Amino acid sequence: MISDHASGAPIEIYPVTGLGEFGPGSDIAGEIIGAAERSGGPGLRDGDVLVVTSKIFSKTEGRMVPAPTGAEERDQLRRKLISDETVRILARKNATWITENRNGLVQAAAGVDGSNVARDQIALLPLDPDASAAGLRRRITELYGRTVAVIVTDTMGRAWRTGQTDVAIGAAGIAVSHGYDGSVDGYGNPLIVTDIAVADEIAAAADLAKGKLGGVPAAIVRGLRVVDDGTTARDLVRPVEEDLFRLGTEESIRQGHIEALRTRRSVRTFDSREVEPELLHEAFADALTAPAPHHTHPVRFVWLRDPARRTRLLTTMTERWRADLQSDSKTTESIDKRLGRGQILYDAPQVVIPFLVAEGAHTYPDARRNACEHTMFTVAAGGAVNALLVALSARGVGSCWIGSTIFAADTVREVLDLDGRWEPLGAVAIGYPTAGAGLRPPADTDGLVLEL
Ligand SMILES: Cc1cc2nc3c(=O)[nH]c(=O)nc-3n(C[C@H](O)[C@H](O)[C@H](O)COP(=O)(O)O)c2cc1C
Repeated sequence: MISDHASGAPIEIYPVTGLGEFGPGSDIAGEIIGAAERSGGPGLRDGDVLVVTSKIFSKTEGRMVPAPTGAEERDQLRRKLISDETVRILARKNATWITENRNGLVQAAAGVDGSNVARDQIALLPLDPDASAAGLRRRITELYGRTVAVIVTDTMGRAWRTGQTDVAIGAAGIAVSHGYDGSVDGYGNPLIVTDIAVADEIAAAADLAKGKLGGVPAAIVRGLRVVDDGTTARDLVRPVEEDLFRLGTEESIRQGHIEALRTRRSVRTFDSREVEPELLHEAFADALTAPAPHHTHPVRFVWLRDPARRTRLLTTMTERWRADLQSDSKTTESIDKRLGRGQILYDAPQVVIPFLVAEGAHTYPDARRNACEHTMFTVAAGGAVNALLVALSARGVGSCWIGSTIFAADTVREVLDLDGRWEPLGAVAIGYPTAGAGLRPPADTDGLVLEL
């Protein structure tokens, strides 16, 4: 039977007032016990949760950095410190950096903070806030014989929500979360994903008593049913592989742009899923943005939607190819093997035949320049074909560019009843890949890129 994380009893939260300024080596436990025990203070009892702002540990653990007071120099140092404290930048928008620090904490500016510190200092987060929490907890037991839980807090923004709340960046002596998997609510609904981040809730609640301006860095939360299961605040950090938002929106888009080309590879086996026609239309529209000379469209895409027509084209091509190979005096075995390679165009869920149509090409009085013009249109049309392949792969659709129609231009025009000026540039087999190909690595450019 899984219990509720709420005890149902009243919860009291006491600010620990009257604490002085902390500095390197200050005894936080002694100061807090003293302040809490002062007449009228809440005291410190077994089972209490002591919530302490991380700033106190920054001050006692030597994590304050001397800083210039001039705004510009201070900002420059702040930026350097953020970058030193950061292991990964997730998002950057104007002056806001969302970063991950060594402890996996994702927050603005790696927790580097100029608030509630002297004007000539900047605070860094404690190196290991869980250890800070455990140390304070131990010291309280040593000095005072009481067993309390300790939560170390920092103030953070949240994705999708404006405003900030305090969260637990360090914890000791308390189960940081309460999972409900396996329990059923009063209406019979299973609570599968409910996992309450209790330590964060306590941190936020305690901030209501501590505040930001009154010099109250600690609060005592009383009345909770505290269970110690050995977890720490580190357990509240979502593992990167489970994080749906491991990059900011703009960074994700940028990465997607960069990786688009490398999503493409020749796919030769497809599963039976039909490619949605709208998706193909989108891919055609993207591909037709490819660069072209003289503001022309040197490419046409013929999408063979009628299966009977596709089969007729392929069988006619196969027979003529067979005749060509026979005239090359190939063995039947080798001819069958070659022809077998064309099977992909029978099997692919969709086939598109790209054509070079050199409409709008300039004509010159000499053959040389006319041939150059034709090359120019050919490369432009080829560029558009590759753009189609990338537009498809970026949408998760596989393709393979097959050259055969180039060798059977007359047959293609005849079967598809096309103008003599349409030059087939191969055929593109299209479909969902049987296996996700993943992102390919960048190519080795050795010997292929010359810098002159
Ligand atoms: C104009 C052209 C014709 C091609 N013809 C064929 C073909 O007939 N059969 C085939 O399996 N692949 C064909 N390919 C695909 C290449 O084999 C393929 O691009 C190469 O193996 C590299 O693999 P990748 O596309 O995954 O990078 C052709 C590619 C181009 C550009």
